[in-house]
Amino acid sequence: MTTTRNRVEVMHGVNFDVLERRDPTLYGGISLTELEVRIKREARELNLEARFFQSNSEGEFVEHLHRLPELADAALINAGAWTHYSWAISDALDAAGVPAVEVHLSDVESREDWRKLSVFDGLVLAKISGKGPDGYRDALEVIARELGAESG
Ligand code: DQA
Repeated sequence: MTTTRNRVEVMHGVNFDVLERRDPTLYGGISLTELEVRIKREARELNLEARFFQSNSEGEFVEHLHRLPELADAALINAGAWTHYSWAISDALDAAGVPAVEVHLSDVESREDWRKLSVFDGLVLAKISGKGPDGYRDALEVIARELGAESG
């Protein structure tokens, strides 16, 4: 029996529900729904099945990470500002033991110093930042390679 490992949980953190209201020079003026539609399509092209989760509550985000082993084969995470200080989220991802890629729309390396630190350092397959929505496509490609889902 062959089982397909192709389920990707796309998790957005704090302030992504109002993405279209955030600085368009950094975040492109796109809404989360528009971003998710695009990710869903790009995932399909790579034989991946994307599901989505967003929360402004750190506790809910942690609880969802606890559910990851049952829900998904991999995760694509943009935790927003939590990226830079939430060791609780870092520990929860570590406990989930699911391969993950970190994405940021803006180039976190060329902004304020506090954005240079990521609590996901050492836990993720890759960190992709500064490529806008295209960065999600790159992250999906990393995940497809990891899961061996490309060939269907
Ligand atoms: C972000 C970068 C973070 O520093 C910021 O707090 C966000 C968005 C990005 O996608 O560029 O909320 O994760």
